[in-house]
Amino acid sequence: MKPVKIGVMGLGTVGAGTLDVLQNNRIEICRRAGREIQVIQASARDIKKPRSCDLSGIQLTTDPFDIVRNPDIDVVVELIGGESPACDLVLQAIEHGKHVVTANKALIAKHGNQIFAAAQDKKVVVAFEAAVAGGIPIIKALREGLTANHIEWLAGIINGTGNFILTEMRDKNRSFEEVLKEAQALGYAEADPTFDIEGIDAAHKLTILTSIAFGIPLQFDKVYTEGITHITLEDVAYAEQLGYRIKHIGFARKRSDGIEMRVHPTLIPEKRLIANVDGVMNAVLVKGDAVGPTLYYGPGAGAGPTASSVVADLVDVVRTLTTDPENRVPHLAFQPDALSDHPVLPIEACQTAYYLRIPVQDEAGVIASISRILAEQKINIESILQKEPEPGSNQVDVILLTQPVTEKQLLHALAQIGSLPQLAGDIIRIRLEGMNA
Ligand code: NDP
Ligand code: HSE
Repeated sequence: MKPVKIGVMGLGTVGAGTLDVLQNNRIEICRRAGREIQVIQASARDIKKPRSCDLSGIQLTTDPFDIVRNPDIDVVVELIGGESPACDLVLQAIEHGKHVVTANKALIAKHGNQIFAAAQDKKVVVAFEAAVAGGIPIIKALREGLTANHIEWLAGIINGTGNFILTEMRDKNRSFEEVLKEAQALGYAEADPTFDIEGIDAAHKLTILTSIAFGIPLQFDKVYTEGITHITLEDVAYAEQLGYRIKHIGFARKRSDGIEMRVHPTLIPEKRLIANVDGVMNAVLVKGDAVGPTLYYGPGAGAGPTASSVVADLVDVVRTLTTDPENRVPHLAFQPDALSDHPVLPIEACQTAYYLRIPVQDEAGVIASISRILAEQKINIESILQKEPEPGSNQVDVILLTQPVTEKQLLHALAQIGSLPQLAGDIIRIRLEGMNA
């Protein structure tokens, strides 16, 4: 059979990694795909820049639109990132009848509904395995492997940079800024690293996972998003003393009244497997009604792992070239006309347990006042920790773990605790999930 001809847009960390994998594993990939996959054109902003990958035989251009218009190309691989020009490139590629493979979660989370409709219309495939959790085949697992199940909830460590930072802070006492710089040098971080540390990248990925899990359209604007920049070594240490780890989690749960979709730092019992996922590794825990809990683990960022997913998508696309477009796996797992309008819930309606660190003056009756306020809001205390004050100080941290409550209940209680005269600083609150599957 004739080789399938590919154009690669972007020769950065993932683009160069993809060319390396295609070259290094050429024979194995061809045996699996049934045809040779040949990269004939690639683009970058600076085509004179030395690259780690072998570019011989590949026509280079600074204009990625040359690739989407090239009549010899069957599949375009978008590895530029961001929304512009990526969105126009992908829509034009579809318009020209080309299949698309992308690692771009921002693009899929924000423009996926439009892109999939266009692809459906033109009977082409848009594949995006690398967009979520780097090298873990989580899209395939959720969309195909778990297709028999009602998905009840999922929780994932889905940003490698953030997990790398939290792990290094906890294990080596390193500063946030220093570890972030290392993550950038290793090629893990987004072009704008605030996307990693403020939870936006995880929110992009959670948007995609939630749609595939529950069969709803992509709704990035409805994700509650909180980053990790306010996590201190102090809270990490208190959490450890209580038997928990702090992880940056994307969490989605289907309830009868709607869907919770939230990204935030989360205390997880240290005995859970997911609490022990460290460094750049990612993991996604999925609870299906038939299968029960399943856990997917692997590297969440970096050239090789991400290229592994990009190339897997390429092989999938090559295999589907000869299949009936009506009978392909739907982009969002459910048939496009079977997506539901089950609403995404506002954060006030979400329910979770909390870790609270309340700095107070060390006076008689403070804990009683806090307990009374929590009791009035029907918030049960799960455990409580208070250390002696430092020598010469009259201030102590009261650490509380609550049982699950709605965000609304907690906010009421915090407003009242906030006006206690003994309060000696800002109250820190971090959500807590038992992840008891
Ligand atoms: P890089 O920044 O390393 O590479 C981006 C590439 O696109 C570069 O070759 C760059 O050219 C080119 N480029 C950038 N802007 C433009 C533009 N405006 N027009 C044309 N070309 C442009 O990014 P990554 O490889 O890290 O990421 C690529 C995609 O993969 C992103 O969507 C990212 O979110 C996703 N991803 C990344 C992972 C990772 O670990 N890095 C993991 C999973 C997904 P030049 O080289 O000349 O500057
Ligand atoms: N910046 C992302 C991360 C890349 O650190 O997880 C992988 O999507």
